[in-house]
Amino acid sequence: MSPDLSFIAAPMVNQSDFPFRRIAARYGATTVYTQMLSPERLIHDQEYLESHRRDLQYRIEESISTVVQLCGNNAEEIVEAGRKIQDLCDAIDLNLGCPQEVARDEHFGAYLLGQKDWPIVENIVSCMAQSFTVLVSTKIRLCQPSTKTVEFAERLQASGSSWITLHARTVSSRRRRQGAADLSEVKKLKESERLTIPVVSNGNVRVFDDLAKNLDYTGADGLMVGETLLGNPCLFSNDVLPDPVDISLEYLDICRLYPGVATLKTIQTHIRHFIDFQCTRRPWFKKLRVALNACTDLDDIEHLLRVKVPRWRGMTMKSAEEGSEHERDGIDLADSGVLWHLPPN
Ligand SMILES: Cc1cc2nc3c(=O)[nH]c(=O)nc-3n(C[C@H](O)[C@H](O)[C@H](O)COP(=O)(O)O)c2cc1C
Repeated sequence: MSPDLSFIAAPMVNQSDFPFRRIAARYGATTVYTQMLSPERLIHDQEYLESHRRDLQYRIEESISTVVQLCGNNAEEIVEAGRKIQDLCDAIDLNLGCPQEVARDEHFGAYLLGQKDWPIVENIVSCMAQSFTVLVSTKIRLCQPSTKTVEFAERLQASGSSWITLHARTVSSRRRRQGAADLSEVKKLKESERLTIPVVSNGNVRVFDDLAKNLDYTGADGLMVGETLLGNPCLFSNDVLPDPVDISLEYLDICRLYPGVATLKTIQTHIRHFIDFQCTRRPWFKKLRVALNACTDLDDIEHLLRVKVPRWRGMTMKSAEEGSEHERDGIDLADSGVLWHLPPN
């Protein structure tokens, strides 16, 4: 069955673990992507293959529409790797958007967007489409010049890509800070008469209202969100922010239910993101970061969330009310000066 592309959790290295995909799906993501996987490692590193197969297996218990993303530039290798996981996913995506140095050095991701490399990409996509039992999709950035993007997308369609996700930035605008995604380019893809496959818009969604605005403006068939979902995995379902501690505990519960797929570091990073999203400027946030890094297992993290954080939050409110600068539970409030109920950043 074709994945529902309405609301997609983006592929994110070290952050698209099953528990995170699960919580995103629980709160409205209709399809979730894995992080980009290395075909070479899926073929040659048994432990890597097994851990990703285990991670994908869980999705079957929960019937979550899942796309596995592969990177690389070698069609044979990509096909061989894809065959090892295609029984556990709904589609396989080719990463044509990674701007990182490793992609530049190994010539994959967004470094395949130049016209001279189009024949390589067309060959990879058509080998994938002919070999896999599941659908094939592509995730791209803007070509340079951006006017080439529509032509490239048409070629991907002709090669067998069942849909295209456009993260409408060029490879040189690597970070969000370096400008917003150019959603007019997504609109252009949708307006191209020769491009008939679905187009997914990716970029610039920061709050719930952006979902409808993005779809209205671009006319896209679906939306993919990355960074904002890291801070608020409930974004797709609600314009009310979840309590950051509650959502962290809920994520932790899912990690316990599906053990062995998210590393401690990944779990710590997710929880930092959930709390960071709303509480960066709280007086206790730095303490939380330090305490979170010091946790050595899930019980430690749970204790921190259930006991210490509520105490810090409550104490900060109380001390603000009383004008107190006293220290309690080893927490120095003298440096606070900021109430915890500041509006979200
Ligand atoms: C931590 C992180 C890891 C990412 N890893 C991948 C990846 O593995 N594959 C990919 O195609 N894009 C990756 N991206 C890019 C996102 O999928 C997405 O295209 C980008 O963040 C823009 O969407 P956003 O503004 O909603 O975050 C990553 C982004 C982040 C923040």
